Amino acid sequence: RPIAAAALGATLLTGCQQANQSLFIGDMSSAYNREIWWMSVWAIVLSIIIFVGVSYALFYTVQKFREDRHDAPPAQFHGNNRLEVILVAVPVIIVFGLSILTVRSMAILNPTPEQATKIDVLGKQFWWNFAYPETTSDAGGVVTNGNEMIMPTKQPVALTITSGDVIHGFWAPNIGGQRAAMPAVQKTWQVDTERAGAYQGNCSQLCGASHANMRYKVVALDQERYDATLAAMKAYRAPEPDPGSAEARGYALFMQGKSSTGAVSCAACHRVQGTPAGGVAGPDLSFFGTRRTLGAGMWEAMTAAKWEDPKAAKQLSDWLKNSPRVKPGSLMPTYDGSEYRNTKGELVKGGTLTDAEIDDIAAYLRSLQLPEEADYWRDSP
Ligand code: CUA
Repeated sequence: RPIAAAALGATLLTGCQQANQSLFIGDMSSAYNREIWWMSVWAIVLSIIIFVGVSYALFYTVQKFREDRHDAPPAQFHGNNRLEVILVAVPVIIVFGLSILTVRSMAILNPTPEQATKIDVLGKQFWWNFAYPETTSDAGGVVTNGNEMIMPTKQPVALTITSGDVIHGFWAPNIGGQRAAMPAVQKTWQVDTERAGAYQGNCSQLCGASHANMRYKVVALDQERYDATLAAMKAYRAPEPDPGSAEARGYALFMQGKSSTGAVSCAACHRVQGTPAGGVAGPDLSFFGTRRTLGAGMWEAMTAAKWEDPKAAKQLSDWLKNSPRVKPGSLMPTYDGSEYRNTKGELVKGGTLTDAEIDDIAAYLRSLQLPEEADYWRDSP
């Protein structure tokens, strides 16, 4: 029986490992995370000792000086130098000890290593953009799929974190903690991991209606595959759809902004590498067909069967028709004729697309895939 219990426990823990978002349990292959883990454990142990000590002193005093145990009033005196020195000294020592722990960890966690891979992180209501700055690596200029960050293993990765609107929080504990994403402020933070695989991230600051729908995935790849993947992304040009195909009709709707019933504005807000679509208000859609989540982690149905899964196809078409309905606060216009709130917060009438037109746009988006060998999800469950 104990063996069965241990096996069950191990199975449960393994199941948690990928998506686990805890500082204390799960994957420990990040040196930055281990540093934060140590500091937290020390702080908690110290706090427990203090709590037990204070509680003991309290109950001891209450018991020992109960009124019914004493006939006479207790000794009356004014001031006690020794006691007062102790009362000041003990908290000072405790605070000093905690600061040493903190300063030590800060000295390890804060400096940006010069050779580190650099990634620009941008939080927006309600999704994440990950870009690789032009100046620092061969991957310069690459923007990954929204809410999917790709990083190399076995080295520090330097993040520059900011926000496009309100305060968000970059939080991926298994690769090394969290940092606030603030508008007009660039915060730096380092993460790392020794293990290739997918890690879960989330927004950690209450930021609006879809705060809980602001998840992201971090895919860590060993150096060689990382380089190859980012090079493939940099070299990528969206495939030209075959004339007359659903993809070609979707392409035309996406780019030209005209449907059978009115205006569509995909290209105004979204970029597709190698096409005239260069909008940056919404997530980059260059490799849309390679992504495995939709709506910043709201759906992960594409994980196994990818786009062939009818459930995934339904999610995508629901999304294209009325994204604010499925994700509150989404700034994407509606295309089922209903009203939506624009970026200024005004209630405006949405566009209209027929089901066939929605399917065409979905077909075009699904065709935007990285070459098989550059599929960074390949080895991730
Ligand atoms: Cu962004 Cu919470």
